[in-house]
Amino acid sequence: MNHPQPELDDAVRRLRSGRLVAFPTETVYGLGALALNGEAVARVFAAKGRPASNPLIVHVLDEAMARRVTGAWPMAARRLASAFWPGPLTLVLPAGAGVPSAVTAGGPGVAVRSPDHPLALALFRAVGEPLVGPSANRSGAVSPTLASHVREAFDPGEVLVLDGGACRVGLESTVLSLMDPARPVILRPGMIGAAAIAEVLGIAVGEGEGTDGHAGSPGRLGPHYRPSAPVHLVETLSALDEAMVSSTGACVVLTPPGLPVAVEPPHEAIVMPSDASAYAARLYAALREADAAQPTWILVCRPPASGQRPEETAIWQAVHERLTRASTP
Ligand code: TXA
Ligand code: MG
Repeated sequence: MNHPQPELDDAVRRLRSGRLVAFPTETVYGLGALALNGEAVARVFAAKGRPASNPLIVHVLDEAMARRVTGAWPMAARRLASAFWPGPLTLVLPAGAGVPSAVTAGGPGVAVRSPDHPLALALFRAVGEPLVGPSANRSGAVSPTLASHVREAFDPGEVLVLDGGACRVGLESTVLSLMDPARPVILRPGMIGAAAIAEVLGIAVGEGEGTDGHAGSPGRLGPHYRPSAPVHLVETLSALDEAMVSSTGACVVLTPPGLPVAVEPPHEAIVMPSDASAYAARLYAALREADAAQPTWILVCRPPASGQRPEETAIWQAVHERLTRASTP
């Protein structure tokens, strides 16, 4: 994927005038705007239809830029940034004085991350300013892993889209609170799991919303990642058969990882990869493809809860969390 300079220049001009530019990251596409410009930030909330109670991640070139928007940079942040940045780990730290309160949804913490994508980093370098970057979808919808997903959701006059190809990771970053650096807590699971973080910090890492009095990640409340067709999670192949037989209309089935299953018309199958990273990278596009067939149900065979290596387990846990939130109870 080449990134012509005129396009980057245009992106910088738009951002500097307070407008929106979507950029690729290794996880999903982000909807960028100047993080320190209140009007630009307000435009992001309006374009996404995002509730004001849900704070935005500030995207930075590097640790130096992160320190400009944070009020504290403890040793734990230094260690994690040097171990995982640029990469799919977001750190929540006390917000710096210049950060508009809309970015933090009025809370004391600001989330920061440096994404591992050359085009995103080239953009941040050219703008020289931190950018907010929520996933570039309308609030509640499935996150975009291709530039075309972003173009489908927003008017071209409203959002310029920088095309960096398919996102490599495919699931949003791990969000880790360091508001109390002695008690780090994962607010949103992602590819970088508790074990990998604990190894760098040398202390235990809490998991889950509201653990030990920490406020959860507000974006994890309520439904999310939802296609238009209802998603039903099935645990076994016999439950899958039963769901297909009893459905009054056509279903699209996301198979168990790497396992083609017998699916008769009018139902259709999307065969999911067996490898954890490949499954994660494919998941959102598969949900969109399933939805495009306008089925009565999207049936998803739940993947295993853990893998052989801790890195695989972290990915399956993140996949589970997204599937649970995509599904209709
Ligand atoms: O991988 C990602 O993180 C992507 C790419 C574009 O970087 N971005 C992303 O942003 O997923 P968004 O806005 O879709 O999700 C951000 C999550 C939400 O759950 C939000 O509540 C949480 O991070 N969050 C943001 N700021 C926070 C804060 N100050 N304290 C706690 N949680 C925060
Ligand atoms: Mg999102």
